[in-house]
Amino acid sequence: MKLWQKEVGNKKEVESFTIGRDPEFDMILAPFDVLGSMAHAQMLSSIGLLTKTENETLQKGLKAIYFEIEKGQFQIAPGVEDVHSQVEFLLTERFGEVGKKLHSGRSRNDQVLVDLKLYYRAAIRELVEETSILFDLLLQLAEKHKDDLMPGYTHTQLAMPSSFGLWFSSIAEGLSEDLGLLKAAFDLSNKNPLGSAAGYGSSFPLNRTMTTDLLGFADLHHNVINAQNSRGKTERTLSFAMAGIAASLNRMASDCCIFMNQHFAFISFPDELTTGSSIMPHKKNPDVFELIRAKTNQIQAIPNTVNLLLTNTTTGYHRDLQLLKEEIFPGLTSLKSCLEMSTFMLKSIRVRQGILQDPFYKHLFSVEVVNELVLKGVPFRDAYKQVGGAIEKGDFAPNQSKLAHTHEGSIGNLNLTEIRSKMGKVVQSFDFNQMDKAILSLIS
Ligand code: ARG
Repeated sequence: MKLWQKEVGNKKEVESFTIGRDPEFDMILAPFDVLGSMAHAQMLSSIGLLTKTENETLQKGLKAIYFEIEKGQFQIAPGVEDVHSQVEFLLTERFGEVGKKLHSGRSRNDQVLVDLKLYYRAAIRELVEETSILFDLLLQLAEKHKDDLMPGYTHTQLAMPSSFGLWFSSIAEGLSEDLGLLKAAFDLSNKNPLGSAAGYGSSFPLNRTMTTDLLGFADLHHNVINAQNSRGKTERTLSFAMAGIAASLNRMASDCCIFMNQHFAFISFPDELTTGSSIMPHKKNPDVFELIRAKTNQIQAIPNTVNLLLTNTTTGYHRDLQLLKEEIFPGLTSLKSCLEMSTFMLKSIRVRQGILQDPFYKHLFSVEVVNELVLKGVPFRDAYKQVGGAIEKGDFAPNQSKLAHTHEGSIGNLNLTEIRSKMGKVVQSFDFNQMDKAILSLIS
């Protein structure tokens, strides 16, 4: 039986095709669906569409369902189309008539939208938290290894001296920038679509500002069509933000794979964090980093699919939008676990010291020597030629322990304080307090 069913049901082929994998993802939306309904019921009561007692019954009933969901006692029964229907059926089964009144002034189109936005806000918060934990660890590692030099590469060829401090803090600063993109996704998720109904509003005098406040949204999508069109736009922005963080982790993981290689042997991990081979007894493989690399590549493919799902959809709701869940939800879970595993692994990273002492790396110092000559008054082009000539003849022998990099963001001046404060500012810009306070007062 469907909520919208009149007399004849639809063919089971159509039913199973249109429902697809939706119930699986709707289970994730369940607590948020209940919260949205709590706010909607309170608002309906404030405009006289529910009596005070009816609202109290619904609030009590919804709260009970919320805690059943938390305890894992909620499920979408076979034959029930989606989470929205399941919650309404439960309320009607338990409290009769009043359950059937809840849907006044609402459509599943704005209901699923509000559920999604509430879910994204919570998921974004977890990403911000996990990114911050990784960021802190990277800055600690940068501080600890600020004097541990390593080769810097361009074109994967030896280029100039770098350091582990520079490498770790480059990932950290990059993550702080990635959060800037995530903030844009948060702002779109933090706008109330409820009251847009099927996408064209309602003839009931709905109080949309009230549900905005009750759910702790920073704002509402005022135009009801625009509210509906925000489905897809939110996911597009979010998927790009996810791809940004994923790309940063991907580069870190690729670096780790190559730096663990025996020819480099710049870093290592305790045996229990590496994996063996079924045939080669000596193997210590970087499977965790390889899978972070692969998973973050999957995540970077999401914006493409999201864009294709949205292409040529006209104004208003389309069932196509349902499939956005299949891309975004697993992507969010995967990104969170990639962040957690990056932190988990890097906590145990071992850095080889004194790498650049090896004469093998002497050419990395060519620019240092050129610059020393320049400081003594030799024009740059002449100094460049002189050093080039020495390298050609094989008598280039620089001092491999002296480096004088002092400018902002260089090996000798990592600007960790500045990078930390940049991160602090972006994290502060996410207002999670307002959403927490609102949700807490709905369920307590
Ligand atoms: N499962 C649907 C979705 O995610 C819920 C909304 C259904 N609305 C409709 N008009 N069929 O989009």
